[in-house]
Amino acid sequence: MSTELLNISISKTTHSRINELDWNDLPFGRVFSDHMFEMDYIDGKWQNPVIRPFGDLSMSPATSILHYGQTFFEGMKATKSESGEILIFRPEENAKRFNLSAERMCMPEVPVDMFIDALRTLLTVDKNWIPSQEGYSLYIRPFMIAMDPYVGIRPSDTYKFIIFTCPVGAYYSEPVKVKIETYYSRAVEGGTGYAKAGGNYAGSLYPAMKGQQEGFRQLIWTDAKEHKYIEESGTMNVLFVIDGKIITPASSQTILAGITRRSVVDIAKDWGYTVEERKVSVEEVVSAIKEGRLSEAFGAGTAATIAQISAIHYDGTTYELPPVEGREFSNKVLTYLTDYKHGKVEDKFGWIMKI
Ligand code: COI
Repeated sequence: MSTELLNISISKTTHSRINELDWNDLPFGRVFSDHMFEMDYIDGKWQNPVIRPFGDLSMSPATSILHYGQTFFEGMKATKSESGEILIFRPEENAKRFNLSAERMCMPEVPVDMFIDALRTLLTVDKNWIPSQEGYSLYIRPFMIAMDPYVGIRPSDTYKFIIFTCPVGAYYSEPVKVKIETYYSRAVEGGTGYAKAGGNYAGSLYPAMKGQQEGFRQLIWTDAKEHKYIEESGTMNVLFVIDGKIITPASSQTILAGITRRSVVDIAKDWGYTVEERKVSVEEVVSAIKEGRLSEAFGAGTAATIAQISAIHYDGTTYELPPVEGREFSNKVLTYLTDYKHGKVEDKFGWIMKI
């Protein structure tokens, strides 16, 4: 791990917006904290690290990111403990995944220590924006964009790394109905599926919109080759409880290595559950539903946390799943993870970074 630290210049807003905030109504991703971190990659190195008031970027219409989508992002969360400490959930994992995305997108890495230094400083400046009430948190959005004003296909020479934050409530306020997608594809072997590349999300909008027109909040993507195996849901990884075992598609080139999913798997193993991370076929899930062997289905993601799946549509049939209230594992793990992130239970896995 690098030990590079930043010398961040901090310029604070003279007009904080915090008093305009309704702490009990925080729609996801629409309310932004007062400040943001920004740093430029020029001449082969990161420079000019600043924290400044949250605000617009100015760029040439020819800027590479606007045309060719050389960009990727991360998502993570911070909360406040009862005693007012800032708690960030597994930020080093996000920093590592950030750099996996950077490599795949031909973009420069941000050394983990630099990433964490930027994050800690930003959260300290905007600590008053971190919710402490249950069900709320500060969503953190680091991202990188290609900045060369150049019309042509090649990796940019210049980049911006930015982190901004939003106090948020739930991403999904109710259980979701999903459709297993068997025509469109999110990711292919050798593609960018495992990276948090902006284009992965752009390409999913049209099929997701079609699914929504049919009444389904989200799609469950299947493999692009045969559409036989379940991959992920685009906003979250998916897990099932079948015959009492927790079953989830293993991370792969076409599935994002979700940090919430990893945490759920680790907790489940610690609690003594049998967990299978492997290929999961649509056929296996649909048979388990029909035979009454599937007791739970849920998504796991930073934004989504644990999102219950109430119905699954496949091949013209919508299967209603067992009632959410009776789902022992996913309800228990949601409560535990929420308590964990708020510092209410022992940090037995060493997942919390305190500021
Ligand atoms: C996250 O969970 O952090 C994501 O990036 C998913 C996005 C739908 C908000």
